[in-house]
Amino acid sequence: MNVIDLRSDTVTKPSEEMRKAMYNAEVGDDVFGEDPTVNRLQEISAQKLGKEAGLFVQSGTQGNFLALLTHIGRGEAAIVGNGSHIYEHEQGSSSTLGGIYLRVVPNQEDGTMSLKEIELEIAPDDDHYARTKLMAMENTFNGIPISEAYTKDFVRLATKHSLKTHLDGARLFNAALALNCKPADLTAGFDSVQFCFSKGLGTPAGSMLCGSKAFIKEARRWRKAVGGGMRQIGVIAAACEYALDKMVARLPEDHETARALADKLEDVDGITVNKNRAQTNMVWLDVNIEGVSGVQFVDMLDKEGLKVLDLGPNTIRMVTHYGITLREIDTTSDIIKKVIKSCSKKSVAGVH
Ligand SMILES: Cc1ncc(COP(=O)(O)O)c(C=O)c1O
Repeated sequence: MNVIDLRSDTVTKPSEEMRKAMYNAEVGDDVFGEDPTVNRLQEISAQKLGKEAGLFVQSGTQGNFLALLTHIGRGEAAIVGNGSHIYEHEQGSSSTLGGIYLRVVPNQEDGTMSLKEIELEIAPDDDHYARTKLMAMENTFNGIPISEAYTKDFVRLATKHSLKTHLDGARLFNAALALNCKPADLTAGFDSVQFCFSKGLGTPAGSMLCGSKAFIKEARRWRKAVGGGMRQIGVIAAACEYALDKMVARLPEDHETARALADKLEDVDGITVNKNRAQTNMVWLDVNIEGVSGVQFVDMLDKEGLKVLDLGPNTIRMVTHYGITLREIDTTSDIIKKVIKSCSKKSVAGVH
């Protein structure tokens, strides 16, 4: 059976051209700072984001963790969204391993956090409270691109309170594409930014952490401490350089396929598409079929050759990526409709 895998844009495999770039990579020992491909990638990336320097890291999780470790001391606090990757999906490592206290503000329907609520979370200078050091946000957030205007207000608020800012831009290039701006427009003013190569950009691994030279120097020390120093890693950096060169330019296809999928499913009974989140390469939907849980629905789709992500309790996520064309979208929509139909037959059978 031909399987369509929409669980994440991380499932992409490197293209032949990307593999060729990896094969031909010039390499050196990156712990000594001697890998020319890594050095070039760090420079290009920092330049694209309007920052002084970059640090190639193993993953988005590591990039976020290093940023927090660098900006914030043990016993100090960061403000993050309650739906953010840092808070929800990194095992709370900044707290459990880094001794950093996370103060949480709800992410609203549009992905932003209310600036008023953030301000209320900034602790007063009082012995009862962990000192607040940083505010972090995510762009895109669950597929939603967050506007340049909001990011500016976010940074302005941090500056007013002398706080650092970190941007988790795992899918920053998707955000910039959806908002028709440059990535640097969305990163202006942030003290640090991380973005991922291994998602829509299709590399086997790798993320980039960017910031000032002084920040990157410290983050580099932390990277070594957490075992993130790699050696002839130019073989992966070459894939990332290829991705910046070629894969960013094809992201519009992913946005088009996601939009097409959301449109096809919009009026289907039994599911509700979250249109607000269908602005980049993601489609989120709720399953409202009596007697069928989200997990069961995902299982049924899986049996038909469609893999999607169950995010509970009745919510599923589909992410479009390299290799998914409008043909796969047609098949995806057909499978979903077929499974819903089979559920309703079962429930009618149950009534009799
Ligand atoms: C918003 C966001 N931040 C960070 C990460 C972590 O990236 P990685 O899986 O490379 O650790 C992800 C991964 O999906 C993500 O979606």
